[in-house]
Order: sequence, then C-alpha cells, then structure tokens
Amino acid sequence: MPQYTLRVNNATHTVTAAADTPLLYILMDQLELKGPRFGCGLGQCGSCSVLVDGAETRSCITRVSAIQGKSITTLEGLPALYASQKRLAAPPEFHPVQQAMIEEQAPQCGYCYNGMIVKASELLSKTPDPTDIQIRSAMSGHLCRCGTYPRILKAVHRAAQSMKGGSR
Ligand code: FES
Ligand code: FES
Repeated sequence: MPQYTLRVNNATHTVTAAADTPLLYILMDQLELKGPRFGCGLGQCGSCSVLVDGAETRSCITRVSAIQGKSITTLEGLPALYASQKRLAAPPEFHPVQQAMIEEQAPQCGYCYNGMIVKASELLSKTPDPTDIQIRSAMSGHLCRCGTYPRILKAVHRAAQSMKGGSR
C-alpha cells in the first residue's frame, strides 16, 4: 500500500492508504480529528469540509493521492490559521467564526457546523464584510437539517464585525 505525506494543521503526517481513500477517512480514522464529519459521503452536504490551500474542499470525495504537497486545514486548525493571517502573537481559543456561532447560540444538533464554520472562514478571508446575499450564496452548498440558517447568517455578520475590530 502506498504512503502519502500530508500537511495537516501545520503538522506533517505520513499515512499508508490506497490511492483512492477519501481524505475524510484519513483525517477521522488515522489522524483522529473530530472536526470533519461524515454526512452524505457524496460531496453534497458539506459536513466533511476542510480547507485545502485555503479553498473549502469536500474531504469525502477528495482522494488522498490528490492532495500531496497541499496544505490542509481542518476545524481544529482554524484558530492558528487566523493567527497567521492576522499576524497575531498566538492563536485565539476560537476562530472568530466559531466564537460568533457560540455567541449567537447558532447550532442545534451541531452536525453541520464543521462545514458551516470552515466555509464561513473561507468566505470572510476573501470578503471581509459580506452582504446577506453573499453569505447565503457562499453557504448555499451546506445543508443544515435543523434549519438554523437565520442564526448562521447573524453569526457570520457578527464574525465579520469582530474580525474588523467592531461589534454588532
Ligand atoms: S459528507 Fe462530504 S459533502 Fe457530505
Ligand atoms: S444544526 Fe443540526 S444539522 Fe445543522
């Protein structure tokens, strides 16, 4: 079985897996990360999302053989990524999107929130002050069976204000 060297949350891991093994299985089963979730397994719900070189990516349909040499950030790595983006001396406990989701009491069951937070962090890194339409458009590929979309919208706005140093 081939070996692959992966860069995950700024740490290097060597894993042994068949070439077509989904990245999600590596993250969950070999690296024992708790952020990415298995939802549909078909690239359609977003619960497995991670950032690959900063772009939100469905890890359930991404082969391990396709991501060698790329930088993978999971939910666990978002505070450190934010610290590097903002040149902070140390990572905060939570990424501002995570903090805003907590403050808005947004999740219900929470199953979709890995993907919601990963996607919102990607959005705000590119669009610091998004409109409602921009948020809805960016998040539209992420499904929440509990229907918490209005609170996600509020939380993303809250995070945007927080990242600018203001309040909402
Ligand atoms: S589990 Fe990957 S998109 Fe649903
Ligand atoms: S909070 Fe339950 S699926 Fe989104």
